[in-house]
Amino acid sequence: MARDTVTIINNATGQEIEIPLQRGTHGPDVVDISQLYPKLGIFTYDNGFKSTASCKSGITYIDGEEGILLYRGYPIEQLAEKSDYLEVCYLLYYGELPTKEQYSTFVTTILHHSMINESLRHFYGGFYPTAHPMSIMVGVVGALSAFYHDSLEIDNPRHQEISAHRLIAKLPNIAAASYKHSIGQPMVYPQNKMSYAENFLHMMFSVPAEEYVVNPLHAKAIDLLFILHADHEQNASTSTVRLAGSSEANPFAAVSAGIGALWGPAHGGANEAVIDMLEEINDARQIPKFIDRAKDKNDNFRLMGFGHRVYKNYDPRAKIIRTMAHDLLKNSSGNDPLLEIAMKLEEIALQDEYFIQRKLYPNVDFYSGIIYKAMGVPTNMFTVLFAIARTIGWITQWREMISSKDRVIGRPRQLYVGPATREYVPMGQRG
Ligand code: SDX
Repeated sequence: MARDTVTIINNATGQEIEIPLQRGTHGPDVVDISQLYPKLGIFTYDNGFKSTASCKSGITYIDGEEGILLYRGYPIEQLAEKSDYLEVCYLLYYGELPTKEQYSTFVTTILHHSMINESLRHFYGGFYPTAHPMSIMVGVVGALSAFYHDSLEIDNPRHQEISAHRLIAKLPNIAAASYKHSIGQPMVYPQNKMSYAENFLHMMFSVPAEEYVVNPLHAKAIDLLFILHADHEQNASTSTVRLAGSSEANPFAAVSAGIGALWGPAHGGANEAVIDMLEEINDARQIPKFIDRAKDKNDNFRLMGFGHRVYKNYDPRAKIIRTMAHDLLKNSSGNDPLLEIAMKLEEIALQDEYFIQRKLYPNVDFYSGIIYKAMGVPTNMFTVLFAIARTIGWITQWREMISSKDRVIGRPRQLYVGPATREYVPMGQRG
């Protein structure tokens, strides 16, 4: 047998197939099992897709064992230190770091798409002020396609590009408007003289009654957090965008589906859930009780912000955010008691055999909420900020999928475990 193949033998029938191994730039080899059913009459089964590559992608690489994250080959640590969010957006979408002129043109383009159609503002009035901002995001982003009939040809590279520009540019505006609606304040128009992060803070926190000065530390922290959340391979929300987009739905509908998937506390909703958990713990002396609950199989409580499907080492983003949390809080009103509890929780958990054995480390969501809270962002907006940042990842992954030469609609199969074939029983004869 050749060494660069895998042989699968169905011992029930004696049939076998030999499949070539495919090697990527980094990471595990893959075997293309698409011929398994036609040739052996069997499906594979992989609950949660723990051993399944859903696509070939050249965008982001994660090494979970080593805690490595690369955007188009560049280590996240270098981008966090040297780049800014819009440059990272350019890198992810176009595949290369921009020249000075390309960067300047891209920034101008994005800032000049930042306004939303005035009719879109009326959508917010249909929501109760108590509506969770993520429910507004799902609705309003999905509705964007109603305004852009000029650019919905999914196979047109220019339409793909302008949709990407519009989504990157408008998400902060749509997000800030959902916050303003929830507190009964007027929505704020973007200011194109500001940077992307400054503009977001301006639209979130300025009021017509007085001048608003953006805190440069907050703008820097937002820009860095957006870089860290920009893309992450085939996570649940990105896989949702790819699957929704594979039906040839427009990119706004696909991204709206991704926002819905991100909302869950097992995924992007964890940053909100971490703060809720830290507030519930409230006193470091309560930590052992919560750690015991997290280990108790009869209690569905989990330590929010801990664990990751891929990282079985420290999430490199969590390391960067942890440092940022300290720096930001040192420069503001001193340490937030929640940060104290978070640090103590991390220290205790990382010494506990249960977490060590299962390689459960803090993930990107563990500290991000503490920073957002320090900036005055309300907890129910944390996942909305994650959605803003991840939009470039979603639309880049969508474009890679939609422009792939072997694009097909995603349509998984199943192992059927329901009732065997049976005859209809008339109502009068049922027991
Ligand atoms: C994100 O995929 C991505 O890339 C996501 C993300 C991105 O950028 O897109 O990185 C963003 O979603 C980060 C994750 C945020 N979620 C949370 O912090 C929620 C808390 N974490 C868990 O729900 C969990 O760790 C997951 C969902 C993140 C991962 O779950 P897996 O991979 O399915 O792991 P598992 O459920 O199979 O757990 C393995 C074991 C189990 O114990 P045993 O059955 O082996 O005894 O670890 C335990 C789990 O019970 N476990 C936890 C735990 N996470 C896993 N126990 C307590 N607390 C936890 N947080």
